[in-house]
Amino acid sequence: MDTVDLTVYGEEFTADPYPFYARLREKGPVHRVRTADVGELWLIVGHDQARAALADTRFAKDSRALGWLSYDEELLGRHMLVSDPPEHTRLRKLVAREFTGRRVEELAPRVEEITTGLLDAMLARPDGTADLVEALAYPLPITVICELLGVPDLDREAFRAWSNEVVAPTGPEAERSAFEELAAYLHELIEDKRCAPGDDLMSALIRTTSEDGDRLSRPELSGMAFLLLIAGHETTVNLISNGVRALLTHPDQLALLRADMGLIDGAVEEMLRYDGPVETATFRFTTEPVDVAGTVIPAREPVLVALAAADRDPGRFPEADRFDIRRDTRGHVAFGHGLHFCLGAPLARLEGRVAVRALLERCPDLALDADPVKLDWLPGMLMRGVRRLPVRFTPTGSGTPGA
Ligand code: HEM
Repeated sequence: MDTVDLTVYGEEFTADPYPFYARLREKGPVHRVRTADVGELWLIVGHDQARAALADTRFAKDSRALGWLSYDEELLGRHMLVSDPPEHTRLRKLVAREFTGRRVEELAPRVEEITTGLLDAMLARPDGTADLVEALAYPLPITVICELLGVPDLDREAFRAWSNEVVAPTGPEAERSAFEELAAYLHELIEDKRCAPGDDLMSALIRTTSEDGDRLSRPELSGMAFLLLIAGHETTVNLISNGVRALLTHPDQLALLRADMGLIDGAVEEMLRYDGPVETATFRFTTEPVDVAGTVIPAREPVLVALAAADRDPGRFPEADRFDIRRDTRGHVAFGHGLHFCLGAPLARLEGRVAVRALLERCPDLALDADPVKLDWLPGMLMRGVRRLPVRFTPTGSGTPGA
């Protein structure tokens, strides 16, 4: 099979990868590709094949057998997303109960309260303009996950810069140094917590002894803190900003939602399907040769599942490129699938629903304040989102719309 060179597309691919994925998908559900960030790998772009691969343990997460050690493992510690059963099962069980639908619904009043405070501040801006990422999409999820973990004093400016670099690296050196700084910072945070435990998830994890009496090791604890803090906010930032961008560039869908906020749950699912926060799932590795729709991926090969491509597969979602908040989105893979299905999906859905609803209710004339094509896109293939989303609105106490 020929290798498809994705590096030649550059910025164009980052800004709008969907036409490239569509062309690949038309040729077949799996391809050998060359990427700018990580070299050659196998890319799955068909919906059925993506779901099947995500649920197939022959596509493993633990890369140690291949002699590969990610920065996460080297500098922080092993966590769920780099583990296979039984290790994965043990780690996930330690925190799963904190993220069930019922548990998360208890957080709804606090999520509403934080959102209200953030929108009060945004709407008080006299010029009626703001960067929605800065004003709402970033501070909401980071505040929620920090409160849940019990790290309210997190240095957000520094953390945001490291975290952004980790999920959307701008270059190998910057990536390595962000991991190092983040690791040093998290180790210190955990030691502080060890000395002054509280009634929160991080303190509970420090105290935790798993069922078989095996305490979470120090590297596992920092790996867990890293995963929850990063996964718990980077993605949701993009759900809010990608979702609002989709609404503001599809006035008919925006009007539908404004007319009936009862559509909000379906709208959030369509935001996830149409332009989800995670473009490709994290790396998997074949433990043996695997036949994907007639193409055999040899053993010990790196594989990426392109969630963004799968969710635009017209074989699964008719008129897949159309943003339609009333469509049947069942089967989308924006939160992954199988053993590693997103632990935080209920929390992300809650935050997305509360943020978008409150934003639309409080800003009846909300509009984009930038050309939607010329935005500052996050580099790399893991995350799909923008660094800034300029918007305008009528500020509180003003009779005239922001210009
Ligand atoms: C809209 C927001 C979110 C999206 C789109 C999203 C997406 C995903 C995806 C696609 C995966 C699977 C990756 C893979 O299989 O390679 C995943 C896993 C995970 N997510 Fe999320 N996520 C979101 C929010 C959150 C939040 C708020 C948390 C908070 C705790 C979280 C925690 C996790 C964890 C811990 C895993 C690893 C689960 C495992 O390995 O068993 N995510 N997420």
